[in-house]
Amino acid sequence: MAFVVLVVGWIVLGLLGLKVLYSFCNFIYCVKLSAALGHSLDLRRYGPWAVVTGATDGLGEAYAWKLASLGMNIVLISRSHSKLQEVAYDIKREHRTIQIRTVAADFTEGESIYPLLKFELVNLPSGVGMLINNVGMDVTTSQFDVLSPEEEIQKIINCNIMAMARLTNLLLPGMRNRQRGIIINVGSIWGTGTWCSTDQFEPCSIIYGATKAFVDKFSHDLAVECRQDGIIVQSVMPTVLATKMHGLQDMSSMFVPKPETFVDANFLTLGIESRTAAYWLHKILLYWREVLHFTLPGSIAQWFSRKIYVGIKVQKLWTEKMNTVK
Ligand SMILES: NC(=O)c1ccc[n+]([C@@H]2O[C@H](COP(=O)([O-])OP(=O)(O)OC[C@H]3O[C@@H](n4cnc5c(N)ncnc54)[C@H](OP(=O)(O)O)[C@@H]3O)[C@@H](O)[C@H]2O)c1
Repeated sequence: MAFVVLVVGWIVLGLLGLKVLYSFCNFIYCVKLSAALGHSLDLRRYGPWAVVTGATDGLGEAYAWKLASLGMNIVLISRSHSKLQEVAYDIKREHRTIQIRTVAADFTEGESIYPLLKFELVNLPSGVGMLINNVGMDVTTSQFDVLSPEEEIQKIINCNIMAMARLTNLLLPGMRNRQRGIIINVGSIWGTGTWCSTDQFEPCSIIYGATKAFVDKFSHDLAVECRQDGIIVQSVMPTVLATKMHGLQDMSSMFVPKPETFVDANFLTLGIESRTAAYWLHKILLYWREVLHFTLPGSIAQWFSRKIYVGIKVQKLWTEKMNTVK
């Protein structure tokens, strides 16, 4: 009996060791080696056009600039017509050879915007090779029962879930026909495990985390379904970024990367990782967060999550204070 336990123990340890080794090698490859070896996908091979939602600020704008620098034509989608024109003009000034189209649509509105999007996107010459479902919003209040059903619950579901599902549904047939395509779905580390709490620090909203959990599950299953058709689907899970979403746009740090830094890191993982936190420190955080959730009792794992969240809040308050002093 003791012998059997010993053998099983060694097998389990061996498997865990292999998993850790694989994760470590993958980390080193994505963060250091792939760029050094020039192993990046030729995105234009997937089709000349890329569509980016939430493209006038933060992460979406960074994706748009990156795609333009790689010679892709882009369709920018956001609510504000003037911001779209501004971003399109700036990008075009630096990247004259590419084409840019803009579509003003508010994803919180739900069903009514999709006929326009279908009209604008489905017949693009030579088709859409890449879809970046980046748009996302949070709600200002944390306690679930104080959210208003139409104003907040419906809108966040329309924006964070429906937009991704509907645009994927719209553009996937073209990708399947051409047997190639890339879909990046921007979720969040807040979509994994449990984050919420009711203490005095402004807690994160559970509905936001839940919509981001949908992004991850949807992407994972779609990636499996589409693999044989040559379509790459990736779930991207940042921790915190220096963007307007959490008021951190002027507060980049090692932990809170600029959106451009994040996008550069993300593109190095394309075709390698179907589920990624992209940026090196966010990768480490996501990895340990999932290990802790797997190994520790729920309450202790939640305590660690809380520490990360409080750390972000403290950094924000500290930077705000320093900016006021200046
Ligand atoms: N920032 C973070 O720390 C963080 C962390 C994890 C995950 N994420 C995820 O990353 C993605 C991008 O976030 P971000 O920080 O870059 O956000 P952001 O800086 O607030 O930018 C949001 C972009 O989306 C557009 N937008 C907002 N609501 C829209 C709507 N209803 N319809 C159409 N466009 C809309 C905005 O433009 P207009 O105002 O002109 O419409 C803007 O271009 C989101 O999915 C977010 O959940 C962010």
